[in-house]
Amino acid sequence: MTAQTNPSHEAPFADIVERMQSMLADDLAATEALLVERAISPVDVIPDLSGYIVSAGGKRLRPMITLIAAHACGGANPGTHALATAVEFIHTATLLHDDVVDDSDLRRGKKAAKNVWGNNASILVGDFLFARAFTLMVETGSLEILRILSTASSVIAEGEVHQLAAASRTDLPTEEYLSIIEAKTAALFEAAAEAGALSAGPESAKHADALAAYGKNLGLAFQIVDDALDYGGTTAVIGKSVGDDFREGKTTLPVIIARRRGSAEDQAFWDRVLNVEQQSESDLAHAIHLIRSTGAAEATIREAHAYANLAKAALRTLPDDEWRRALSDLADFCVSRAH
Ligand code: IPE
Ligand code: IPE
Ligand code: MG
Ligand code: MG
Repeated sequence: MTAQTNPSHEAPFADIVERMQSMLADDLAATEALLVERAISPVDVIPDLSGYIVSAGGKRLRPMITLIAAHACGGANPGTHALATAVEFIHTATLLHDDVVDDSDLRRGKKAAKNVWGNNASILVGDFLFARAFTLMVETGSLEILRILSTASSVIAEGEVHQLAAASRTDLPTEEYLSIIEAKTAALFEAAAEAGALSAGPESAKHADALAAYGKNLGLAFQIVDDALDYGGTTAVIGKSVGDDFREGKTTLPVIIARRRGSAEDQAFWDRVLNVEQQSESDLAHAIHLIRSTGAAEATIREAHAYANLAKAALRTLPDDEWRRALSDLADFCVSRAH
């Protein structure tokens, strides 16, 4: 299981994740088993495709958040394992759909599933996993958990559609960028943390708001770092192609800051290249240069740190124990990926 949840392309951050994996060994083993078991279907392409992406690794950040949140609020139980599996299934479904929407060829260091089975199978198996996530949620027996995750699911879809509608808008205001990533990414982190807390039992409800705030801010930090890595990372580390956002003409925070800080000539460059039809091969290298030389890369990471600090601050009302420290370390891990 360690090899599965700690893929080599994330090796530099292995120690923080490894410690959490050992704290959560039994819970993660139960969750990993469910991720395979609940993708079983007589239609072979479903377990084949699902098994391909699930076994390719992935950091399992969201289920870890669910499990640690439950422990921080009294303890994880079989319902928490069903919930952690549901959360990872929702995440997996969004990745299958996202790689079709973004036309990305690499995911978790391997060919994207759509490049092996095609777009149609990727979308339909994504739908299957989404639906299975809801079956798992019902097993928690909590309508409140079902409400939280179903709301998050519609918000994620809304965020992806909002981003699609905002494509190539070089003048995208930072607030609008933040509202897109809050929806497409932070909503699931928020739901994973809040529902995880609630799964620990009725006593845990008093901590649910704090964990929701933690998850939301962590999700924002995480996506901002991911957007920085799209220009500053390496394929070996992120397991995805560098420059995917650029090739798609996505206006992310490093671009917003670099464009704002750039000369009139730089601004004209951004306005041209974010229109994907006008990009040429060498433009990505120049974009990376501008993001570095204007200090936009650093400013982006500073912004991520600010959200990670808000996430950590939200934990102050929780009991001061190893689980609260684990949540805090997880926030550090998310921003450490950028260094
Ligand atoms: C990828 O998330 C999608 C984003 C929100 C950026 P992760 O980086 O958590 O993906 P895996 O699960 O580790 O592959
Ligand atoms: C990931 O978004 C998908 C969702 C958050 C729904 P991105 O398109 O920004 O992430 P990567 O770079 O493909 O992982
Ligand atoms: Mg993508
Ligand atoms: Mg996308």
